[in-house]
Amino acid sequence: MRIAPSVLSADLGRLREQVETAIEGGAEWIHVDVMDGHFVPNLTFGAPVVRALRRITDRPLDVHLMVRHPEHYIGEYADAGATVFTFHPEATVHVQRHLAAVREQGMLAGLALNPSTPVAFAEEVVDQLDLVLVMSVNPGYGGQSYLPSSTEKIRRVRALLDQAGSRAALEVDGGITTDTIAEAWLAGADTFVAGSAVFGTADPAHAVRELQRRCAVLA
Ligand code: DX5
Ligand code: ZN
Repeated sequence: MRIAPSVLSADLGRLREQVETAIEGGAEWIHVDVMDGHFVPNLTFGAPVVRALRRITDRPLDVHLMVRHPEHYIGEYADAGATVFTFHPEATVHVQRHLAAVREQGMLAGLALNPSTPVAFAEEVVDQLDLVLVMSVNPGYGGQSYLPSSTEKIRRVRALLDQAGSRAALEVDGGITTDTIAEAWLAGADTFVAGSAVFGTADPAHAVRELQRRCAVLA
């Protein structure tokens, strides 16, 4: 399993220090929430921040695009140093083509499923996926509560990936805390985004270790 702290909840004035502390605690990936104020109501940051993070760390940068027409930005994020490029199927029309373009640009291709988005969207393109992101909140803000219905959805995505013989990562995003992570892990998730549970605390390194420990005791 891997923890992917979301810099959405970091103190951006101390971004380097915050990221380094999370990595010191064992964070494998750094999650970057890109919001455009259209696909989701909130507005955050874009490729320049990914480029800055790339100079801070050589860890995989897990970029989650909550934007309309993500295909317009594939080249830009590849250039900036993104490792994973995940987008939402509702944000565009030609999902199949754009997943292929993401891989052609040398990034891992991810598809994000909102709480109301059927798993079938991933099923149709399963061979093209390096990651499936199960949203366990409606995207747009950090600090929301884990939706209990997500657990069953994680199980269904796990079954889909196993049946297809896919080695894609199964990531869960939203409301992951020391109280909810074990449930998502037992359902089959292997990658956990955590924003406020890591950067909303005084000691992000300790927070990452605690999240890992909650799964390790069940292994
Ligand atoms: C939600 C974002 C999440 C968010 C998670 O729109 O996609 O990545 O940062 O934040 P927490 O962990 O605080 O729910
Ligand atoms: Zn996210």
